[in-house]
Amino acid sequence: MKVRKAIIPAAGLGTRVLPASKAVPKEMLNIVDKPAIQYIVEEAVAAGIEDILIITNRGKGAIEDHFDHSFELEANLAGNPAKADLYESVKSVANLANICFIRQKETKGLAHAILCGKSFVGNEPFAVLYGDDVIISDDPVTAQLARCYEKYGKGVVGVNEVPEELIRLYCTLDVSPIPGESRAMNCRKIIEKPSPDQILSLYAILGRIVMPPETFEMIEKGIAETPEGGEFLLTDVFTELGMAGKLMAYDFDGKRYDMGNKLGIMKANCEVALNHPEIGDGFKEYLKELVKTF
Ligand code: UTP
Repeated sequence: MKVRKAIIPAAGLGTRVLPASKAVPKEMLNIVDKPAIQYIVEEAVAAGIEDILIITNRGKGAIEDHFDHSFELEANLAGNPAKADLYESVKSVANLANICFIRQKETKGLAHAILCGKSFVGNEPFAVLYGDDVIISDDPVTAQLARCYEKYGKGVVGVNEVPEELIRLYCTLDVSPIPGESRAMNCRKIIEKPSPDQILSLYAILGRIVMPPETFEMIEKGIAETPEGGEFLLTDVFTELGMAGKLMAYDFDGKRYDMGNKLGIMKANCEVALNHPEIGDGFKEYLKELVKTF
């Protein structure tokens, strides 16, 4: 079945990028001239996703405003031929896709955030694009994963290898190759934040997944069985699917930037600026001069 819907969870507290994320949602932090979440919505649209649900909460109103019309601004720019490009860029954001919003009323983790999309998704597969992971690629990563789902009918987690010294911050996956496939693998087991003796491979899940509709029942059941005060992890859903032979890992082609931490934000800005049609050349010259002083 075709993947037509996507959920973008953007209701986290963003504590790793405080104080920047105190009044501005971290998903709205800029990469050069666009907020992170716009890159993510554009990826979903480029992958052929028709309906997008963004999970927000109190204090994230700027995300809704960004994807809405700003009539005063548009009227102001429309009257000025010298600002025609700006007018188009502002207006087109509001027409990118059919975008809905729902509030996660308590910040109870990623699995709980995804469950907020149950009635939006209904009985079909769906993509999840983590709201603080921007991935730049020619072929949208969501499309790469969706094709894998559509071919095999199993849940797909987007993975890349991470440096060994960093795997303890992510999860580790037990993967096995599939004859004839260069990027798609079977995945049986996952361990969250592994200690050195638990490392199964250097593959970690990085911000994109495509899941079957039964995911919602699995989260509901998991949350109901989790003791008060505990958090039911999405990893537990992956583990259950993996043990049933219904999970794949896809080694995606793309460059991922973690907008949830300070270094990730700086890398994203630096690399996007270097390739930017308007400021790329000037920024490159500036960097060349700057490195001479190190
Ligand atoms: P993260 O765990 O990276 O976000 O979740 P966080 O909780 O904001 O991070 P820190 O540790 O406090 O800095 C990945 C994505 O899931 C969303 C976040 O907004 C982020 O885009 N999320 C997380 C939710 O929507 N709800 C939650 O309860 C938790």
